[in-house]
Amino acid sequence: MAETDVLVIGSGAAGLTAALNLADRFRVTVLAKGRLDEGSTAWAQGGIAAVLEPGDTFENHVEDTMVAGAGLNDRGVVEFVVERAPAAIERLAELGVPFNVAEDGKNGWHLTREGGHSHRRIVHVDDATGWAVQVALIRAAEAHPNITLVPDMVAIDLATSRHELRYSGAGNVWGVYAFNRATGKVELHTARATVLATGGAGRTYMFSTAPRGATGDGIAMAWRAGARVSNMEFMQFHPTCLYHLEVKNFLITEAVRGEGGRLINPQTGKRFMPYYDADRLELAPRDVVARAIDAEIKRFGLDYVHLDISHRGADFVKAHFPTIHAKLLGLGIDMTTGPIPVVPAQHYTCGGVVVDRNGRTDLPGLYAAGEVSQSGLHGANRLASNSLLECFVYGEAAAAHIAASWDALPPPPAIRPWDESRVTDSDEEVVIKQNWTEIRRFMWNYVGIVRTTKRLERAAHRIKMLQEEVADYYGHFRVTPDLIELRNLLQSAELIVRSALHRRESRGLHYTLDHPRPVEPPQDTILIP
Ligand code: FAD
Ligand code: SIN
Repeated sequence: MAETDVLVIGSGAAGLTAALNLADRFRVTVLAKGRLDEGSTAWAQGGIAAVLEPGDTFENHVEDTMVAGAGLNDRGVVEFVVERAPAAIERLAELGVPFNVAEDGKNGWHLTREGGHSHRRIVHVDDATGWAVQVALIRAAEAHPNITLVPDMVAIDLATSRHELRYSGAGNVWGVYAFNRATGKVELHTARATVLATGGAGRTYMFSTAPRGATGDGIAMAWRAGARVSNMEFMQFHPTCLYHLEVKNFLITEAVRGEGGRLINPQTGKRFMPYYDADRLELAPRDVVARAIDAEIKRFGLDYVHLDISHRGADFVKAHFPTIHAKLLGLGIDMTTGPIPVVPAQHYTCGGVVVDRNGRTDLPGLYAAGEVSQSGLHGANRLASNSLLECFVYGEAAAAHIAASWDALPPPPAIRPWDESRVTDSDEEVVIKQNWTEIRRFMWNYVGIVRTTKRLERAAHRIKMLQEEVADYYGHFRVTPDLIELRNLLQSAELIVRSALHRRESRGLHYTLDHPRPVEPPQDTILIP
């Protein structure tokens, strides 16, 4: 058993921000289920949204966020986050994130543009912002004597009052049971406060831009422990993922459209966004552009559409998108002379564990920040580059609340160790692979960009069958990382489908042919365990 002051589960933007903001006063342990840089943060391309352009205002950013979110956002939360963006960028720059500076040589950062933003607002490091942020955060955390970074530690379940040796009934979270990949054993990590920063559940879908580990572990753990989960039907599909037979999840940043990229139907050779959103064209919010591409693909029987920025010239393209340009060249695609084949793919989990403005969940001692959470910022559809921003603001807010209420947080009591006495080693690993693939396939086909009640019911039916199978398997065999993830993937799929069936309207990312119009007033879907 290992005890610390504060336990952070996740080493991405949200987790490391929380850790760095706590470490001057407390001992902080950060767990990651693989390498420290394996979350979505390191893969972020476009950048971080902040009001920095002369003439832009917080009100504009708030308004753009609310328009993208189809009115479901919590305006107070949107204001809270947007107003903290410029300071968050400054702190990252102080940590050494080498943001691109303005091209005119004057002071200030270079700002690029993305869909749904009425102004240039995206601070970035070329087209690989997340990597630069992740490297700077890890470097700072490694240098801090009070932070212990523990990679290869897969959290299984939260340790709660149910696991106390002497049951208190208080409902607290005291830490987590986690599988140590190096020893193959389950360890107990306890703390006064636990911050969930485990990212999203994108891998519930066959095609996703998210990394392999985005299996909704934190959402599933919090749900099993008794926390409310909200708005899981709003899974965001990014319009432009590379279409390639071998490389399935490479994102083509929205900034390509922001800098003039056009979407073309490869069969007609025509730009098609004017038919779907005549004013905003390729820079309409993501749900609008993804649905337009989906409609073109279905109508014309296409495998993909084209994204073309070659008219901006080779120097411009190479200077703005060096990472994407190099990656595509390696695959035989030259974006300086021709179009890029693209399709929509799952990209972001707008829903998650319900948190308040301090990052507090329903459970005493448990906080959540970043993509695992539902703070009220994104509403029914996240505005581009608001996600990293949320990680910084809520990572800091959770840390501030833990510090402020430290004396009221009781130290963890004695907790039961993990019990393996009634399980054996699995003799049928194939079950895990089969179920994993099946979930991702039916989620893609039945719970995708355009939904119907019948398809959702089909998915719900399959989930029910798989739940019995996976529960049986989990009850009989020793845990492995794959089994832990499968259980969480299935739990996340169940929450998504249940939420989607509950919403009898189309709003933002949830579009169903059976209820094509929005119903006013907008309401969150809140699931209570
Ligand atoms: P992550 O960075 O995903 O980190 C999750 C952490 O939790 C990891 O350390 C992981 O190991 C750990 N973890 C998970 N499960 C467990 C477990 N069971 N046990 C232990 N540890 C666990 N957003 C923007 O704002 N701007 C962008 O330009 C942008 N581009 C993107 C591009 C891509 C390709 C993708 C996929 C996303 C992009 N996003 C972008 C979204 C953004 O990157 C993420 O929402 C954000 O990075 C999430 O950060 P996080 O800290 O919440 O989680
Ligand atoms: C992108 O670069 O297109 C991703 C931005 C985001 O997800 O916010």
